[in-house]
Amino acid sequence: MQALILAGGKGTRLRPLTVYTPKPIVPVLNRPFLLYQIEILRRAGIKNITLSLNYQPDKIEHLLGDGAEYGVKLRYVTEPSPMGTGGAYKFAAHEIQETTIVFNGDVLTDLDIFKVIGFHQQKKAEATIVLTPVENPSAYGLVETEADGKVSRFLEKPKPEELAGLTTNNINAGIYILEPTVLELIPAGENTSFEYNVFPELLKREKEFFAFVMNKNYWRDIGTPDSYLQAHHDFLSGAIKGFEPGKPAESDVATAAIVDKISILGENCIVKPGARITNSVIGAGVHVEEKAVIENSVVWAHTRVSSAAQIRGAIVGRSCHIGRNVSISGGAVLGDKTSLTDYTKV
Ligand code: GDD
Ligand code: MG
Repeated sequence: MQALILAGGKGTRLRPLTVYTPKPIVPVLNRPFLLYQIEILRRAGIKNITLSLNYQPDKIEHLLGDGAEYGVKLRYVTEPSPMGTGGAYKFAAHEIQETTIVFNGDVLTDLDIFKVIGFHQQKKAEATIVLTPVENPSAYGLVETEADGKVSRFLEKPKPEELAGLTTNNINAGIYILEPTVLELIPAGENTSFEYNVFPELLKREKEFFAFVMNKNYWRDIGTPDSYLQAHHDFLSGAIKGFEPGKPAESDVATAAIVDKISILGENCIVKPGARITNSVIGAGVHVEEKAVIENSVVWAHTRVSSAAQIRGAIVGRSCHIGRNVSISGGAVLGDKTSLTDYTKV
């Protein structure tokens, strides 16, 4: 069993955060996102992992290296131009020797992959897709199944009129188990989508295509700012568990500053007297000056938050300069190196 992580998208919905940091390695709790996927694969005994890249591939490869540090073996395949999700799998065909777990590189889950492998084998499936229920399926791939778990319909990004007549809100969780024979259905050298081309083709040819429905697992696509921020809140509130917390970092927090118990600070932060940090994740080397307030927010590494600045419900990128008395309110997303003049309101 091996794995392929589709990590080549441009991450447009997560801009400006993805201008300098490709989505697969945006920090989540100060760790590159892909490490969460690598961890659940490793737990299921899958150590042979190929990353399928296109956008800023060097940054990803440079950061994760050969994977030895994480107990896995990483290989990289970079498309010269985006081939689409199915096309990326085909493009990596020379790396595919056996049954493969395919992951969308932006889904955060604590799913036990081992259970899905068991299901796939028991059903003797050629393809298995993991489903999860969501409230509004319109931003996802909606999947209908028969009583025995066979997939009967796949509808990517259903329109309101298509949603009206449907009886399920189970969507494609972006995790598949594919036998190498699926490669034969995909044309080489073409931009092809799993969602619009490969899955409908499996159905048309009446292949053994089954759905495993997640039960009580955490699942989230972190590909929008709201969702990225919510993933942090879910970790802080304990809604997602089971991942090793990193070592508590060494930071210099003034005794007259307040950092609540659930907030996380990266290494070498400086928090000055009178500052208050609640329900937030702060990257390494961040300076928080006197009386600054950071609430319900994520602040990336090496940003400076000047005195009496207030950041609430926002995401602030790397190496930003937030001037004195600046007020940043809910929903704001600041790209790396943003500089806000004293007293600015965003
Ligand atoms: N290598 C490569 N090449 N990777 C790609 C390409 C490509 O051309 N295009 C997209 N990807 C990667 C992205 O980096 C991402 O990790 C994954 O494929 C899915 O792409 P998204 O752009 O995030 O898709 P989505 O979120 O709109 O929809 C997909 O995910 C949903 C679950 O989150 C679909 O698979 C839906 O059916 C699904 O419900
Ligand atoms: Mg996505």
